[in-house]
Amino acid sequence: MSSFTLTQDSQKFCNLLKLKYPIIQAPMAGGPCGVELVSTVSNSGALGSLGAGYMSSNALDEFLLNYSNSSDAPLHVNLMIIDEPIEKDINPEIQILLKKIAKDVGVKDYNLDFTFKNQIDEQIKILIKREVKIVSFTFGLPSKLQFNTLKESGAFLMATANSVREAQEIAEFGFDAIIVQSHSAGGHRGGLAKTQYANRIDLLPLIRGVKKTVNIPIVASGGIMDGYSIAATLVAGASAASLGTAFLVTKESAADEIWKKEILASKDTSTTLITTFSGKEARGIKNKFSEITKDMEDSFPTYPITNTLTKSIRAKAKEKLLSDYMSLWCGQGSFLSRDLDVKTLIHTLMDEMENAFKETMKFV
Ligand SMILES: Cc1cc2nc3c(=O)[nH]c(=O)nc-3n(C[C@H](O)[C@H](O)[C@H](O)COP(=O)(O)O)c2cc1C
Repeated sequence: MSSFTLTQDSQKFCNLLKLKYPIIQAPMAGGPCGVELVSTVSNSGALGSLGAGYMSSNALDEFLLNYSNSSDAPLHVNLMIIDEPIEKDINPEIQILLKKIAKDVGVKDYNLDFTFKNQIDEQIKILIKREVKIVSFTFGLPSKLQFNTLKESGAFLMATANSVREAQEIAEFGFDAIIVQSHSAGGHRGGLAKTQYANRIDLLPLIRGVKKTVNIPIVASGGIMDGYSIAATLVAGASAASLGTAFLVTKESAADEIWKKEILASKDTSTTLITTFSGKEARGIKNKFSEITKDMEDSFPTYPITNTLTKSIRAKAKEKLLSDYMSLWCGQGSFLSRDLDVKTLIHTLMDEMENAFKETMKFV
């Protein structure tokens, strides 16, 4: 891999965050981001990220301690802004459907409790204690107090937008950068919308719209699988690209093997946006669960209630390797994923970017 000059925005962003490459391994809650994945990415010169949304403060503390034994390189931690549920009742038809699915999957004593405890203040305390200097938010904005506490600790702060208007709100709030996430992205739509559904704009018009409207760095995310697409987002105005699915299938990722296999075998038509696993739109591979729940999606409670209601179903399906009932989150570009180790993936991405900039974009 030879060296070449990045765009000015990208170079500035890399210098600021002490990165060699404008590549971020996207935060992914729910399994893939073990210490091995995150530290190998950061040690390779890109930015490793932890999706810490569902972690207890103890688990987060332990992760950060283990990370510090594996790497001195910068680390990015992502937190979720989850509102306490306000809905009280679950539609009776949904109760029947979920009970039937739970029985089919083999969940014993399935119950419809949906207690939820917000743990963000405890998580922020741990981030400050362990001196995490790059923090992002998904599903909403933190309180001013939470924001200022992290800012005073010297952290670089980002939040996720699914539309130009959301990006504007994030910039006005005082964030240092915006993660601009298109509907092609794997996993949940991470923007500010509190409804089941979020804005569906493709990545390039979204980047261009945000670039024309706000003046802080843009991190592009959603469907980026190779160096050619990274180059396209940088040319469009992003400072870095955040890739989830491409890293989810690497050797170092802690995602289940069955999940990786489904992604690696997927086609361009394999993914869909599903709301019935969690109550919030998320992209993953179509399966029996998404098919049998689709017609009733508007009747499912909103996030995080449905997420809690399907937790034991997903856990049992994972245990029994029943991919038909697992939430196989991945982006629309899943069919372009490659079975590589992290270092080879990052070098390949950079080679492709170099090729895109130096060879493909020649004007005669
Ligand atoms: C399994 C999985 C879990 C995810 N969890 C989070 C999360 O906790 N926080 C977040 O901001 N984004 C999360 N995302 C979204 C990613 O950060 C990123 O936006 C997305 O993976 C980009 O699309 P791609 O997968 O096509 O590269 C998740 C994505 C996946 C695939």
